[in-house]
Amino acid sequence: MLIRNQHPDYRKPLEAVDAETLGIAAAEAVERFLSHRPNHRPTPLRSLPALAHGLGLGTIHLKDEGYRLGLGSFKALGGAYAVIRLVLEAAEKELKRPVEIAELYSPEVTRISAAMTFGCATDGNHGRSVAQGAQLVGAKSVIFVHGGVSDARIAAIARYGAEITRVAGTYDDSVAEAARVCDQNGWTVVSDTSWPGYERIPGLVMQGYTAIMREALEKLPLPPTHVFVQSGVGGIAAAAAAYLASRFGAARPTFVVVDPARAACIFETARTGRPVKLHHGEPTVMAMLECYEPSLLAWRILSRVADAFMTVEDETAVEVMNRLARPLGHDPVVVSGESGGAGLAGLLTAARDPGMRAAIGLDDKSRVLLVVTEGATDPDRYRELVGLTPADLMSNAASIEVK
Ligand SMILES: Cc1ncc(COP(=O)(O)O)c(C=O)c1O
Repeated sequence: MLIRNQHPDYRKPLEAVDAETLGIAAAEAVERFLSHRPNHRPTPLRSLPALAHGLGLGTIHLKDEGYRLGLGSFKALGGAYAVIRLVLEAAEKELKRPVEIAELYSPEVTRISAAMTFGCATDGNHGRSVAQGAQLVGAKSVIFVHGGVSDARIAAIARYGAEITRVAGTYDDSVAEAARVCDQNGWTVVSDTSWPGYERIPGLVMQGYTAIMREALEKLPLPPTHVFVQSGVGGIAAAAAAYLASRFGAARPTFVVVDPARAACIFETARTGRPVKLHHGEPTVMAMLECYEPSLLAWRILSRVADAFMTVEDETAVEVMNRLARPLGHDPVVVSGESGGAGLAGLLTAARDPGMRAAIGLDDKSRVLLVVTEGATDPDRYRELVGLTPADLMSNAASIEVK
């Protein structure tokens, strides 16, 4: 299903605070922070000419976030970045003077960060990023996981020294529990979703994500005409759309938000015109997108700058993982986890349907940009769904990058 944005705020400018948090200057600040991370390099941008030809499109490029900061997903950009920013802010408050990123490991600042504890709920990837950020600055982290998070994903978080708290229920229940326990203990909640009265920290998390579009635009020969981005609570989609709106204004690319049909909280919010909480149904294979309530901050942005909202079926997500593992022609191999290829699943769904194609103006001149938001963050699940091991594929996936 695909609907055009009908919200009364559609095409209104971003609110000033959102333009400031996610605009060009903010993305440059993120780049400065990233340059202090030892394993930072821009993720590969892959071109898929054979797939584009097969779908009757001009070009398709994928930003491959499986290679992000050693964590295997774009979430590495957000939680850890917010933790570092919050440590520097705490240091400024205590030391009563400006504190630069270069001072992060100074004795004065590490004394302050060692006394801090960061908490969050996660489907897997965000918690890993917060835990990594806390470990980098010598702080503690407590990560809240619901029953649907796989053991492999929990182990990957614990590897960064996090204390794990299991919560009964869904992702949304774990968000509420993380907020409650952190509040009780005086810990800082670094959530990737926002709620009334809690926007600044999710805004910092989303600010970290702006690096994706900034890096992609640096390498693309021409700006995209269409961008498809998948959504859980809407954070990455909103960060990407807001950054593109800041860069291109009214001439920005057509922006499509893609939800799993089984957890379509942004789609249903768009359809209803106001934030909705969905009932928990059958789980989706796109485990990282299994969110039933949108981030209010993300929705405020998407209601203005997203052009269309769509849903994709689980089968299409699995088809995408397999297509990327066994590509057409000379297209590169890309290793995508279950949620990583949802944007491409949206493109496949729309490109094959004449009504959807027309609704968003997809044709043989279209230049489409997508984000593979994760690699095989759960390798056993990947082998089950693709029949190959990520390790075999990664060694073959010689990076065919856009120079
Ligand atoms: C791999 C992956 N893709 C997409 C998303 C969706 O991001 P958001 O919840 O910011 O919409 C997530 C969220 O955890 C994710 O882990």
